[in-house]
Amino acid sequence: MFSVKQLVESGCLTSVPPKYVFKNTESDDCMVTELEAIPTIDFSLLTSGNPDERSKVINELRNACQEWGFFMVINHGVPETLRKEMIRATKDFFDLAGEEKQQYTGKKLFDPIRCGTSFNPKVDKVLLWRDYLKVHVHPHFSAPNKPSGFGKVLKEYCKRTREMASELLKGISESLGLEESYINEKMAVESADSHQLLVANMYPPCPQPELSMGLPPHSDHGLLTILMQNELAGLQVMHNAKWVPINPLPNSFLVNTGDHMEILTNGKYKSVVHRAVVNDKAARISIGTAHGPPLDTIVSPAAELVTNFVGQFSPAYRGIKYKEYLELQQSKSLNGKSCLDHLRL
Ligand code: OGA
Ligand code: NI
Repeated sequence: MFSVKQLVESGCLTSVPPKYVFKNTESDDCMVTELEAIPTIDFSLLTSGNPDERSKVINELRNACQEWGFFMVINHGVPETLRKEMIRATKDFFDLAGEEKQQYTGKKLFDPIRCGTSFNPKVDKVLLWRDYLKVHVHPHFSAPNKPSGFGKVLKEYCKRTREMASELLKGISESLGLEESYINEKMAVESADSHQLLVANMYPPCPQPELSMGLPPHSDHGLLTILMQNELAGLQVMHNAKWVPINPLPNSFLVNTGDHMEILTNGKYKSVVHRAVVNDKAARISIGTAHGPPLDTIVSPAAELVTNFVGQFSPAYRGIKYKEYLELQQSKSLNGKSCLDHLRL
């Protein structure tokens, strides 16, 4: 089956087919807590030019990165119309007839545009209740040729999220006691070669949402992921050994620190495990952009951050080329932070 969407639309599905039944392992649903909320970062205060406000937000960023690895960004300046157009165009893409998407199916990791279902159906033991579209949008921009106008909206959206990522990385560098340009320079994030991948997720309504999974627990590659969604919730973040459901404010972005932030900061800022659950009401769409260095960059712990309290140089991860890490992650099923475990020293 090419897509869950097709499966759902093919008839009156009243139960989840067996190959989509997801057994929760150690992280059970009894551990879901509604009692906590992720931190909120007012982006406008980072760029307002007021040093007091900026240092306050940088403290908040430090806390958010240390305690959660996830935060909600408000007052980011990305127009609401652009966000709406992105969601609309993404929905229209998934609504295209199968033949029109066929040119993008069965593609490989570094093909510019690919769509499919689950994560890696060749090795996934249980299929995920999720279809996806993945587009490499930087350094070389690509876009599906349909729906019409998608390319224009996508290009602008990706530019705006790249700008947001560099601004956040300046704040994050400062929050680590480094020069504000540190991460952007070291990882060449603002260079013409930096890598940005757009991942659009479609989670069709599911007749038995408690039995299947949209995305299982995983962490993201890259330095930062910037995510937005349509009006349906579904993201849950692991915090203090509990799943915290995320209900973002309208017009906000969710940002999380990725595996390469954990490597670069030598574990000071962790990439946090999250998952996407499904619902029986309507299709949920989420759109994430992963921001990373150029693909041939070897990411290893920053010398400035690996000296321990007795002055010894003690990196906790070995370096790996960004491209090789992406290959490693794509070769397996999504499973917690398993990729990062390969690099621990
Ligand atoms: C992802 C992801 C969460 C969501 O695409 O990596 O974690 O809410 N998505 O769809
Ligand atoms: Ni993710």
